[in-house]
Amino acid sequence: MDGLGREAAVTTLKQLDLRNSQDSSASDEAAAPKLAPKLSLRELGINLNHWYAVAQSAELRDKPLAVTLWHQPIVLYRDRASNPIALEDRCPHRQVRLSAGTVAGDNLMCAYHGWQFAPDGACVHVPYLEPQQKLPTCTLRRYPVREQDGFIWLFPGDAALAEQVAPLGVPEWEHLNFIGSLTTIDVQAHYSFLIENLMDMYHGHLHGGAQVWANPVLAELEAGEARVHARYDAESYYRIDKIWSVSQLLIPALRRLHPEPLDVYYHYPHWRSTLGNDFVIYCLFCPLSETHTRAYLLHFTSLERFPKLHKTPLAVRRFVKRSFTNSASFLLRRLVREDVLMLEQEQQAFAANPTYRGPELNRALTAVQQLIRRQAGMGDGEMGG
Ligand code: FES
Ligand SMILES: [Fe+2]
Repeated sequence: MDGLGREAAVTTLKQLDLRNSQDSSASDEAAAPKLAPKLSLRELGINLNHWYAVAQSAELRDKPLAVTLWHQPIVLYRDRASNPIALEDRCPHRQVRLSAGTVAGDNLMCAYHGWQFAPDGACVHVPYLEPQQKLPTCTLRRYPVREQDGFIWLFPGDAALAEQVAPLGVPEWEHLNFIGSLTTIDVQAHYSFLIENLMDMYHGHLHGGAQVWANPVLAELEAGEARVHARYDAESYYRIDKIWSVSQLLIPALRRLHPEPLDVYYHYPHWRSTLGNDFVIYCLFCPLSETHTRAYLLHFTSLERFPKLHKTPLAVRRFVKRSFTNSASFLLRRLVREDVLMLEQEQQAFAANPTYRGPELNRALTAVQQLIRRQAGMGDGEMGG
């Protein structure tokens, strides 16, 4: 579930450092991924050959939906079978946004002159075509798109590679033993600032105990080709083992600190974390540009410790899941508000003084920065798509 088995070779940080330095050697040039040493970390692009979460499933109904992923305006809509379709959001006729149009059967119809485009992007109908005229041969770019675990996932890179990579699984979304809460992050900052924030559990100072964990100490660090895993020894405020455990959210006096391992993973380009067996948290990234990042923050509380509940009828379990869904969203919104304030200050300070390098004491972040650089060099998103 945590993707630990996805990578055949997990290296230590030291080995990764060594490999990075070897990447620049001429003899290895053909095989090694291209790094992007000239750009600052805060100016790097994304690896486009991954799946990104561009919308929630529930947001995409019977109207076209405009989204942006790394400088690319994209329109989403559903065909008659409810399958999501993703096309470039630019009418080839006069370059207006197709997302302002409507859905006509399986096609997308432009708001301006009513030209229609099929799910494969081909222009298939012009309302005023004269008998001697042929349909224009303009075709929109079509993106690989999937609907999975409550989200619309889009692959902005080489479409031929889309089947070789899978979107990050969020099995807790549907699972009846997990209660989910969701909030969105919209921050005017490079995505590297956000992932560093999420991997750096030493910033709990900012939240004054509003987060579920406390007193982290970095205990283990692994860095792989597409992943960084940091394990912190930590403590959890909450224990989810009574039916009234949810009251701990509102009454701090009921919380008891107890030791729990805190695992954080950068599964490029997304983030996942577990605190003991009680909590699973995700951050699904959708970077828009070098200075603007959107993301979905998902928090799941496990009901695994309630065996009696698991024996109740499915309808009851669904009712419990539905009733408590988003019960922790207010807490997530507070955490995000506090984090966004810091991230935007970091971005502004970088813009004012791009050559400044502050001391970095958390080894996990050094590994994260190396992974960003490696992945940015592998994709072709450095030049803004
Ligand atoms: S601009 Fe889209 S049909 Fe004319
Ligand atoms: Fe935070």
